[in-house]
Amino acid sequence: RTIYLKDYAPPAYLVERVELTFVLAPEATRVKSRIRFTPNPGTASRDFFLHGEELKLVSASVDGQAVTPAVTDEGLTCEVPDAPFTWEAEVEIAPARNTALEGLYMSNGMYCTQCEAEGFRKITYYPDRPDVMAVFTVRIESELPVMLSNGNPGASGAGFAEWHDPWPKPAYLFALVAGELVNHSGSFTTRSGKDVELNVWVRPGDEGKCAFAMESLKKSMKWDEEVYGREYDLDIFNIVAVDDFNMGAMENKGLNIFNSAAVLASPETSTDANFERIEAIIAHEYFHNWTGNRITCRDWFQLCLKEGLTVFRDAQFTADMRSEPVKRITDVIDLRGRQFREDNGPLAHPVRPESFVEINNFYTATVYEKGAEVIGMLKRLVGDEAYAKALDLYFERHDGDAATIEDWLKVFEDTTGRDLSQFKRWYSQAGTPRVSVDEAWEDGTYTLTFRQSTPPTPGQPVKDPRVIPIAVGLLGPNGDEVQETTLLELTEAEQSFTFEGLAAKPVPSILRGFSAPVILDRETDNAERAFLLAHDTDPFCKWEAGRALARDVLLRMLNEGAAPDKAFLGALSSTLADESLDPAFVALVLALPSEDDLAQAQVDAGLVPDPQAIHAVRERMRDAMAEALEDQLRAAYAAHQVPGPYRPDADAAASRALANTALMLLSRRDGGALAQTQYDTADNMTQQLAALSALLTAGAGEEALKAFEAQWKDDRLVMDKWFSLQVAHAEPGDTAATVERLTRHPAFTMKNPNRFRAVFGAFAMNQAGFHHDSGDGYRLMADWLIELDALNPQTTARMCSAFQTWRRYDADRQALIREALERIMAKKDLSRDTAEMIGRILDA
Ligand code: ARG
Ligand code: ZN
Repeated sequence: RTIYLKDYAPPAYLVERVELTFVLAPEATRVKSRIRFTPNPGTASRDFFLHGEELKLVSASVDGQAVTPAVTDEGLTCEVPDAPFTWEAEVEIAPARNTALEGLYMSNGMYCTQCEAEGFRKITYYPDRPDVMAVFTVRIESELPVMLSNGNPGASGAGFAEWHDPWPKPAYLFALVAGELVNHSGSFTTRSGKDVELNVWVRPGDEGKCAFAMESLKKSMKWDEEVYGREYDLDIFNIVAVDDFNMGAMENKGLNIFNSAAVLASPETSTDANFERIEAIIAHEYFHNWTGNRITCRDWFQLCLKEGLTVFRDAQFTADMRSEPVKRITDVIDLRGRQFREDNGPLAHPVRPESFVEINNFYTATVYEKGAEVIGMLKRLVGDEAYAKALDLYFERHDGDAATIEDWLKVFEDTTGRDLSQFKRWYSQAGTPRVSVDEAWEDGTYTLTFRQSTPPTPGQPVKDPRVIPIAVGLLGPNGDEVQETTLLELTEAEQSFTFEGLAAKPVPSILRGFSAPVILDRETDNAERAFLLAHDTDPFCKWEAGRALARDVLLRMLNEGAAPDKAFLGALSSTLADESLDPAFVALVLALPSEDDLAQAQVDAGLVPDPQAIHAVRERMRDAMAEALEDQLRAAYAAHQVPGPYRPDADAAASRALANTALMLLSRRDGGALAQTQYDTADNMTQQLAALSALLTAGAGEEALKAFEAQWKDDRLVMDKWFSLQVAHAEPGDTAATVERLTRHPAFTMKNPNRFRAVFGAFAMNQAGFHHDSGDGYRLMADWLIELDALNPQTTARMCSAFQTWRRYDADRQALIREALERIMAKKDLSRDTAEMIGRILDA
């Protein structure tokens, strides 16, 4: 059944307060609810409906009178008064048998919950929709030592604990945790002087991996006060690490639940990338307290209201804590790799979708990352000051509301007087706009003419022009900046902008800071790209020039059999030699466009990509880089060793990024000798894993792989890396066999999403292996997705996106993929989640 935005209707009954009692038992947990309902004065409907799935109803009453509701698979209806009344019910659920990890489930003997988006209905009967907000009081009964829920702690004693959350909230923010847990504690004093107790709760044995998350939390709390004026609003803030979790983390009020991969950190077990990601996710979930919890979403179509804004905020935070340019460039790489890819295929949907079958399928790069880009554009268009004012107004006007994108935009219109109706198309139109640009030069006047168009996407054949903020600067022939960054507002399908009084024809630096999530087409040559790589003052455009150069050179190798380009290697050499550059930036310039990126570039040029050929060309280019740059790489490796004990900060991580990029390339020259030395002496995971990776590149990693396994067999998160790395490094013709071998490893399990993703997520990322012309990749993926669907629909459905680019390949591959997709579709009792994904991928 498809749900439509246009069908939104307010709830018939509102909830004043909820009291829940949980009597925990793995196979038979009893949930007693006592809910005070009032008829919604804002609506005429008096149809009383409570969501409920997979619940055993034990008893129900209205105002103390036993009732017998009409129960279906989706919920229940019942005769109720057209006046305030009290609903009471008792249900039974089996958390130990909940492998979908949605609702109340067990992970390593610990009880935990995941309710967003629609998991609360698997806990008890309730109006499980975000526009029903209520004050919750929770009592948990069990013999477990730690029992947590939302809000502030109440009474507790032998066998029970009570919690009260004074802030009205939708059911998706409900959480409960119970288990044998230990805490790493801390405290924070808010700027108005309130003391907040902070805890990171983990399994015994993981206490040593909490300090970084705690520091990140404190930094986030402080940053949100300083930058957004947002203070925390409870006496306690708890974070819990859970091993079995479908996503990264969840912002439940006062009780954030995290995938342990997104919170546990130590130098020995976590890489620099892990530390950065953990800091960002801690911030993200904390920031949700205002953008998500205090102001929530009216319905799930508005998901980007909280997610786009919170991703935007966490990106600002990371930029402040670390390097702004590096954060921007890596975000753009990620956006192109995941969101542009989504926008360009059968799964394309607007930032605010208009229909869905299963909302869990819309926690996408488009809603999150493009949703954040849209906010970045809005900020650029109105300016920093107006943005700050608009946000103040948003918090003031909508605190306590379940709000919409219309509410959000209205705040900006009221603050600035701007008409945002055209801007709103960013929320309603799917697809990535393509912007082409032509230049003209005459008598000191330079003209840039832009044309925009967006290709059709499923259900949206025709697109209207959008407002596109294009940040532009101009460089003179000697490399000086003759026009500093200025913001052009492209609103028409075609529009020109002129710059006057220039002494010579400039070189344009367009889309500075990646000012809009568009694809820029510009006829240019590699000499100009090399010039921009050398001289541009905008770090994003500087990197982008190098990236375009690399892409062009690789495509000519691929399409015309060209040799690795000398000028390109020269440009890399100059970049390596420039000591004024951030080493992390240099590492980004040395990284080649991904195989997927090159495949898409071939499609854009009207060609059919051959994943194996693409893989071979990238390998060849890396060999050429290693050969041409060997001396410089050795020097860079030596110069960027970080002395002293490991620190996860941006500067140290930047040095390691460059040194390890050099190491990867050098392992192509020395058979892995240097990598072996690094492996043997590494005292942190960043160095150890990079060395192992370099050894595998050199074909000399067998011993180290065994040693690594022996060293880390008891650490799940590190073993995930061991699984992934082998899949990532497998040769194209050997990838499916490698995956198959790893699934037979005793430590492989389908029940843990991290482990499944470590193998199959890495498989989908290994383009040449997954798309190998034998078709083994498609068959193997389909076999396992069919198995997993019976246990965990959500993770299965997400993995289906591995197939989303299928139409770009040749007829033989397409036939093999179609066969795999149809086989999944034909499975008996296929979940709604997976059926929707496969249906969309096949149909469009
Ligand atoms: N709101 C969470 C976050 O972004 C994501 C939870 C998504 N969970 C899900 N089952 N769809 O931080
Ligand atoms: Zn979020």
